[in-house]
Amino acid sequence: MVSYLDAQSAPLKNTGQIRLHSPEGFEAMRKACLLTANCLDELASIVAPGVTTNAIDRFVFEFGADHGALPATLNYRGYTKSSCTSINHVVCHGIPDDKPLREGDIVNIDVTYIVDGWHGDSSRMYPIGEIKRAAERLMEVTHESLMRGIAAVRPGVRTGAIGAAIQTYAESERCSVVRDFCGHGVGQLFHDAPNILHYGTSNEGVELREGMIFTIEPMINLGRPHVKVLADGWTAVTRDRSLSAQYEHTVGVTRDGCEIFTLSPAGLFAPGLKFE
Ligand code: MF3
Ligand code: CO
Ligand code: CO
Repeated sequence: MVSYLDAQSAPLKNTGQIRLHSPEGFEAMRKACLLTANCLDELASIVAPGVTTNAIDRFVFEFGADHGALPATLNYRGYTKSSCTSINHVVCHGIPDDKPLREGDIVNIDVTYIVDGWHGDSSRMYPIGEIKRAAERLMEVTHESLMRGIAAVRPGVRTGAIGAAIQTYAESERCSVVRDFCGHGVGQLFHDAPNILHYGTSNEGVELREGMIFTIEPMINLGRPHVKVLADGWTAVTRDRSLSAQYEHTVGVTRDGCEIFTLSPAGLFAPGLKFE
């Protein structure tokens, strides 16, 4: 049985119950998510051929420190970096290292800042120099999948409506939806109930209510949907080594739809924009 509870009077642990946040919670999330979006905006002028993912990760840590925020991934379940950097056939949870980015790569950078105890979680894709049309198309399809998922959000529908919107669109574009990772409730906890599946049908899942806050973060592949996790215990890659892309927003359910907390102030979220 699902149950919902008032976020302000509930213990901070994921019990499977779904928190309904107050206007104060929404205000705190706007602040955390804005910092995350600003960091991802800044990264647009940093990522380039020759830049290492460790350099990106250091920027994420420093930018947070400069603004009084800690990256949520740092020391999270044994993870030791401030970001995830997932290149080409890496689906998610790529660990920053000293390998330089190369012309033609596509990389997802995923950042979660904790501001005053609240988590702002977002990721987007960055093309490195000139990329192939197939890679650009995958980024476009993935971004559009996320936006169609977001468009399905309103009180009274089930979480399955989000997954259905994403899967229907992505598969109509001959791409596949990764099943092994999902969106999640977020707020004063990094990963909370409910799970937000990026596939399925609209009669599945729990009913959305005003005050819920969660991420939508579809991972879409050019090839088959199957993934495997490498020996490092984190890096998830496509089994067929096909390209994978991901975009992630944190959203809050409003009276008649939702508010996207992680919108880019610089207008740099969507693919196809030229970075300087
Ligand atoms: N930010 C990721 C998400 O969207 C979670 C990364 S957890 C890590 O939920 F440990 F891999 F960093
Ligand atoms: Co997330
Ligand atoms: Co994330």
